Amino acid sequence: MNKVILAFSGGLDTSVCVRYLQKLHNLDVITLTVDVGQNDDFREIENASSELGAIEHVYIDAKQEFLRDFIVPSIKANALYQQKYPLATAISRPLIAKKAVELAKEHNAVAISHGCTGKGNDQVRFDITIRSLNPNLNIIAPIRDMNLTRDKELEYANENGIKIAEVAKKYSIDENLWGRAIEGGSLENLENEPPRDAFKFVKQNDTIATYVTIGFEKGVPISLDGNKMNLEDIVQKLNEVAGSHGVGIIDHIEDRVIGIKSREVYEAPAALVLIEAHQDLEKLVLTNHELRFKFHIDNQWAWMAYSGLWLDPLLDDLNAFIAQTQQRVTGDIKIKMHNGSYRVVGRKSTFSLYDNSTVTYMSKSNFDQKLATGFVTLWGLQSSAANAKIWENKE
Ligand code: ARG
Repeated sequence: MNKVILAFSGGLDTSVCVRYLQKLHNLDVITLTVDVGQNDDFREIENASSELGAIEHVYIDAKQEFLRDFIVPSIKANALYQQKYPLATAISRPLIAKKAVELAKEHNAVAISHGCTGKGNDQVRFDITIRSLNPNLNIIAPIRDMNLTRDKELEYANENGIKIAEVAKKYSIDENLWGRAIEGGSLENLENEPPRDAFKFVKQNDTIATYVTIGFEKGVPISLDGNKMNLEDIVQKLNEVAGSHGVGIIDHIEDRVIGIKSREVYEAPAALVLIEAHQDLEKLVLTNHELRFKFHIDNQWAWMAYSGLWLDPLLDDLNAFIAQTQQRVTGDIKIKMHNGSYRVVGRKSTFSLYDNSTVTYMSKSNFDQKLATGFVTLWGLQSSAANAKIWENKE
C-alpha cells in the first residue's frame, strides 16, 4: 500500500483524518508529531496513533530549530500581525511542513496529509510550504475535502471509537512555545468575554508588581535579571511570570488570508513582553530614519509569515535588512508587570543614542537653542506656503 505522512496532534481533526486516509484513500498512515513546545503528553499521542491503526508514529523534537529559525526572527521583526498577534501558530506551520516533507522522502510516501479546514490560514501555510519543497507530493486535507464540521467530526469519532480529550471537544487549541490559540465554542459569539477556562498561562490575580530585566545582544534575548539563560528557558520563564501577573491575553478581530474576518483569542505572555522590550530597545539605539523604514519592513514580514509565504524569496530579503539593523540592538530593558499590564520602565545600552546633556531642561548644555529658529523656519517652508495659497485662492 502507498504511504502518507500525516501531521498528527492527537486532537479531533487529525484523529479523524487517520481513519479517512485508511478507509477512503486506502493509504498506510505514518503519523508525525513535531514538538514545538506544545507540552502535550507525547506518549499518549503515540498510543492514540497506534490505536487508530497507523503503521508508524514519528516524534521529532524541533524546539531548538523553532527557536533559532522562527522565534528569533520574529523577535527581530517585532512580528505582530495586525499589530496584535505574535504569530505562534503561523510560524510553526512551515517547520512542521518541512519535517513532513523530509519524512515523506525517508519513507517513500506519496502524499502528505494535514487536518486543516478550508476556512483557515493553516491550510495556506502547509500547502504552500509543502509544494515549495516538493511539488511531486500529493496533499490530502480530509476535513477540507469533505467539508467536515466539528459536530460531524465528533459524531464520526464517536461512531468509530476514536477517543477525544474533553478540552479538545470544547475548543480548538493550538499551542507552542510562542503562544496558544484558542478557537471555537463560546468564543464564536463576539459579545462574550473569553471564559477563564480558555487560558492556561494567564491567571487573574492582584499581587504586587513584578519587575524583570531582559538583556539583548544583537536583537536576541540572552539574559533575565542579569543571569545568562538560553532562549527556551527565557521564553518559558516569561510565560510563567508574565502569565501569573495576568499579562498575555489577546482578543481581536483578525483578517484571515482567505477573506474571512474572525474573532481570535490567544495567550502569549512571553511573546508580548519580549517584543515590547525589543521594540523599546530599538527605539533607543536605531536612528529615526532606520526606525521609520523598519516599521514597514516589520509589517511586511508579519504579513508574509501570517499568509503562508515563509519560503518566498522576499522573506529572505527582509531578513537580510533586519539582520543588518540588529547589530546595535544590545542592552537591557526593565519591564514592570502588574495586574494584566506590562510596561517598559527602564532601559540601558552601550549603543544608546540618548544624550542626557543634549536633552536636559535642567542645566546648561552644549545644545545651542538659537540654531533651532532657522531649522523650524525651513522645516515648515512648504506647509506655510501651501496654506498661503489656499487663503489666496479662497473667494
Ligand atoms: N488564527 C490563527 C492563525 O491563523 C490561529 C490558528 C489556530 N489554529 C488552530 N488549529 N486552532 O495563525
